Amino acid sequence: MNYGPGMSQPASAMILSADPAAIARAGRVLAEGGLVAFPTETVYGLGGDATSDAAVAAIFKAKGRPSFNPLIAHVSGLDQAAALVEFNGDAHRLAERFWPGPLTLVLKRRPDSPVSLLASAGLDSVAVRMPDHPVALALIRAAGRPLAAPSANRSGRVSPTRAEHVAQCLEGRIAMVLDGGPCRVGVESTVLDLSEQPPTLLRPGGVTAEELEAVLGHPIRRALETPDAPRSPGQLESHYAPALPVRLDAAGAEPGEALLGFGPASDCVLNLSPKGDLSEAAAHLFAMLRALDRPDYRGIAVMPIPEKGLGLAINDRLRRAAAPRDKQK
Ligand code: TXA
Ligand code: MG
Repeated sequence: MNYGPGMSQPASAMILSADPAAIARAGRVLAEGGLVAFPTETVYGLGGDATSDAAVAAIFKAKGRPSFNPLIAHVSGLDQAAALVEFNGDAHRLAERFWPGPLTLVLKRRPDSPVSLLASAGLDSVAVRMPDHPVALALIRAAGRPLAAPSANRSGRVSPTRAEHVAQCLEGRIAMVLDGGPCRVGVESTVLDLSEQPPTLLRPGGVTAEELEAVLGHPIRRALETPDAPRSPGQLESHYAPALPVRLDAAGAEPGEALLGFGPASDCVLNLSPKGDLSEAAAHLFAMLRALDRPDYRGIAVMPIPEKGLGLAINDRLRRAAAPRDKQK
C-alpha cells in the first residue's frame, strides 16, 4: 500500500523477506539473546527471548519503554502457553475459539514459569498470546522459546503495521526486521485479564468484547470504565501518538489540517474505509496516521468512527493519539 507521491519509504538493509532461511537465521539470533522484529496479524512485534532477563532488558532499552509496562509472551501453541501460566476454564474456552488470533490472556504466573520477571514487570500475572501469522509462529518455533514482543515502535509512538515503519524507528537498535507484508488486523490484540473475577477487558482490540462475551456466556468488565489506577499500564492516556495534534469527530478539515475520512467523504486526504467497513479501517489506521504525520500539515482531523465492534479499538487508539501531550508517558 502506498499513499501517494512522496510517501513511499526507502528500503532498509535490516529488512529481510521472511523466507525459511531468514526465519531460521532470526531464530538463532533470538536464541542467542538478540532482538528481531516480526509480523503478526495485528502489528509488528519487537521480539526477544521471554525467558531471558537480558533479552527483555534489551527490548525495554530499544523501545525506550518505561520498565513498569509488562510485555506479552508470544507462544506457538496452547501447550507452550500452559507451561507459563495457570490456565482456567474461561482461558481454555477463549483460547480454543480465538487462538491463533488477536486475543491476549492475562493469567496467573505458574510458580515454575520460565518467563523473566522483568517481562511481567513484577506482577504475579503473565500475558500470553498465540499470534495468527505464519511467520510469527514459525519464528517462535525456530527460536524454541516464547517471545516477549511489544509493538515494534519507540514507546509512545504509533504501532508499526509494515516492516518499513519498524526500520524507520528502530534502525540500528535491533538485529533485523522480518518482512511479512502489511498486517491484516492493524490494531493490537484485545487484552483480557482472567487472573481475577470477573474477567476484565484491559485493552479493546482485534477480538471484540461482544465476541468474548458470546463465548464466555457472561458479561466482562470494561476496565476503561473504572476510574482506579490502570491495571494495564498500556492504558496510560497519551500512548499512540503521531507528532501532529489529532482532532477527533471532525465534520471537515480546518485550514492546514489533513482530513482522515471514514465512509463516504469528498474532501479527505486519505480515507480509512470509503465504504465504512470497520475491519478495513482498523487495517489502515496506523499506516494512514503515519502517512499524514508530516510537517506540511498543522494537524490531523479524523471523521467520526462508530463506537461498536472493532470501532471500540479504533476509537481507543484515536483518543490516545488525540490526548493532551503533557499526559504523555
Ligand atoms: O497485538 C499485540 O498485542 C502486539 C503484537 C506484537 O502481538 N503487541 C503489543 O504489545 O501490543 P504491547 O507491549 O505494545 O502491549 C501489551 C499490553 C500493554 O498494554 C501492557 O500493559 C499489557 O498488554 N500487559 C502485558 N502484560 C500484562 C499483565 N501481566 N497484566 C496486565 N496487563 C498486561
Ligand atoms: Mg504498544
